[in-house]
Amino acid sequence: MPTRLRRAAPADPRMDWAFRSLESWVARGLKTLGGRKDGQPIKELHLELTHRCNLQCVMCHHWQMPFDDPASVKREMGLPQIRAFCDDARLLDDVEVVVLSGGEPWLRADIVEIASYLRGRFPKASLGILSNFWNTEMVRRRLTELRARGVDRLWLGSSLDGLEATHDSVRGQTGAFRGLMDTVAMLRRDFPGLDFSFSFTLTPRNYKELWDCYRFVSEQGLWFGAQMVVNHQKFEAPETFSWSDEQLREVERQIDLVIADLCARHGAIERIVKGEEREALWLWTRLFYWRYLRKYASKPERFFYDCLAGQRYAMFDPEGNLFFCPVNKHRAIGNVNGINFDALWRSANAEGERGFIDSCRCDCWLNCIANPVLDRVLALGTGAALPGAKL
Ligand SMILES: C[S@@+](CC[C@H](N)C(=O)[O-])C[C@H]1O[C@@H](n2cnc3c(N)ncnc32)[C@H](O)[C@@H]1O
Ligand code: SF4
Ligand code: SF4
Repeated sequence: MPTRLRRAAPADPRMDWAFRSLESWVARGLKTLGGRKDGQPIKELHLELTHRCNLQCVMCHHWQMPFDDPASVKREMGLPQIRAFCDDARLLDDVEVVVLSGGEPWLRADIVEIASYLRGRFPKASLGILSNFWNTEMVRRRLTELRARGVDRLWLGSSLDGLEATHDSVRGQTGAFRGLMDTVAMLRRDFPGLDFSFSFTLTPRNYKELWDCYRFVSEQGLWFGAQMVVNHQKFEAPETFSWSDEQLREVERQIDLVIADLCARHGAIERIVKGEEREALWLWTRLFYWRYLRKYASKPERFFYDCLAGQRYAMFDPEGNLFFCPVNKHRAIGNVNGINFDALWRSANAEGERGFIDSCRCDCWLNCIANPVLDRVLALGTGAALPGAKL
């Protein structure tokens, strides 16, 4: 970790005014969205390829599952099963983003075959792989094979859960941080131009290092996001977490530093003053995400009634169980093996789950779920065009 990082930007006194503008765009966007109740086509396909993992993170249930149920590994969907449901699924024809995750997806010996198939089946989509960047050589080998097969429009995401000692302790592995840094160096050297980003899961173990990690990642020109740890109702992780008021005040302070830096770094206030809001939707989405993460940390609640789970995302666990959102993954719709995907998507179970989502009995604030909603709402609120979106 380098020691000479940029210092915190001084808070701009116009920031409250800037956020009032942002809030007004969001309010306007939500009002317009409210009148459009028609369903969204499925835009994202997320496949957890395995629960297996080479790390043992304290907040994560995945890695333990194969120890508790070793036979589950044999039930992982292979390429034939993935192909069987994707080939026939007309409702997946508009998919724009395919995400492979886990567990640790690089552990799947057939990941290159699976990714190559998905590349061909979803020609309009980008292909993302979320992994932990620990085993540099494994990542390099698989990426080399993917490149040899011509798999393009690939992007990678990894987790970063603190500075070296904290990251290693959260990840249950001495050297996890070193491995991650080696992978970053390898990607820059061997795969220049490959897009990758980092995500930070806030827990009481690492919240004091959010700002340092944000600075470190953004100094390198990379995207950095964060989310609060989720204590899953059904899937037990080694640790469950509760927050003291004092810890939450510090979370807010750290997020304030991130927001001030984003504003300063990207000239947010100047853009608003000049009336250039339509040209920087990505910035408003990021600022708003962080602002509401701050709120959510202290008071978890649903901010937008209109949740896109059940419409925009088709998510599968390794065995082929369809679920609508990561928080409610225990409320699976059904298993896709041997069943037509379109029929499963339109089944009574799926409709029942959509009813549950509409009832607002759950809440979350996660990048993967919140950002597409924010993109839509802010585009509507500022009058900007959102390419390809059905608004
Ligand atoms: C399950 S991992 C799979 C991909 C990869 N193994 C990794 O660690 O990035 C995906 C993301 O979920 C996050 N995560 C794990 N357990 C979580 C929890 N209980 N609440 C919120 N996020 C969690 C991880 O930190 C990671 O950013
Ligand atoms: S968060 Fe990722 S790296 Fe950590 S145990 Fe879970 S799947 Fe593995
Ligand atoms: S937890 Fe609730 S609000 Fe969040 S994505 Fe899932 S269904 Fe939507």
